Parts: sequence; C-alpha cells; structure tokens
Amino acid sequence: MKKIFHFILALMLMSLTACATAATPAPTPTLDALAAQGQKVFNGHCATCHALVPDTIIIGPSLYGIATRAETRVPGQTAEEYIQLSILRPGDYVVEGFTNIMIANFAKQLTNEEMNALVAFLMTLK
Ligand code: HEC
Repeated sequence: MKKIFHFILALMLMSLTACATAATPAPTPTLDALAAQGQKVFNGHCATCHALVPDTIIIGPSLYGIATRAETRVPGQTAEEYIQLSILRPGDYVVEGFTNIMIANFAKQLTNEEMNALVAFLMTLK
C-alpha cells in the first residue's frame, strides 16, 4: 500500500514539474555562439568609436539599430553586404554628418571568421 502511495506521489510530482516547465516563459534571446564571438571582436576593434546605445556618438555613429538601417543605405545592397562593406571599404558610403576616418585596414586585421562573427553580431542590433 505504501509503495503505491509513493508511486502516485512520484507521478503527481512528475506532472507538476512538467507543468512548471511548460509554463516557464521563453528565455530572453541570448546571442548565438557566432554572434557572441562577434561581440568580442566588436569590443576589441570597434567599441572605441561606436556606441551600441541610441543617439550616442563616440567618434563614429552609434550602431544601435544598424541591422535595420543597413538595408536602407545603398540600393541593391542587403543589410549584411552593407555592413561588411562598411567595415572593409568604409569610404564607399560615408554616413551623413561624418567624415571617413574609419580605419580602412580591417580586411588585414580581421580573419574571415572574425569578420563573419562580427557581421552576425551587428545583424542582431535591430
Ligand atoms: C577610428 C574610429 C572608428 C573605428 C575604430 C571604427 N569605425 Fe566604423 N565608422 C567610423 C566613422 C567616423 C563612421 C562614419 C563615416 C563612414 O561612414 O565611414 C563609421 C561608420 C561605420 C558604419 C556605417 C554606419 C551606418 O549607420 O551606416 C558601420 C557599420 C561601422 N562603422 C562599423 C564598424 C565596425 C564593425 C568597426 C570595427 C571593426 C568599426 N566600425 C570601427 C569610425 C570608426
């Protein structure tokens, strides 16, 4: 008899945990591994000039919302293409109100992997 009671208790507990799991709200989205790597590259190479909060100019424009803005910059360029070109050839499109003083040798400084990670990270800044 005691055994059955324990069994039922165990079942009840199991269904309780099942419920609890189902009711847990979706976790806040975290950066995937590639974007997280890109954030490190950003902190190492870009954060000296670019803020990630709105309307904050350090030396370059804030990159808050860049993923959304990027595709409106140059007709025919996707957001990823624009971001990548902004890094590799910053003089191609110069943001209004700024001069092109962004370091133009990132192509040599960054590996392809770092570049992909960086673009993945910037694409999370919607
Ligand atoms: C020495 C300061 C400096 C550094 C370092 C720098 N930038 Fe910039 N960046 C600028 C300036 C100034 C502009 C605006 C002029 C232009 O468009 O080239 C700019 C423009 C941009 C733009 C275009 C923004 C828009 O709204 O269209 C992107 C994207 C960008 N930078 C990304 C990066 C990334 C990623 C890095 C790191 C790999 C980086 N920058 C490093 C100064 C910098």
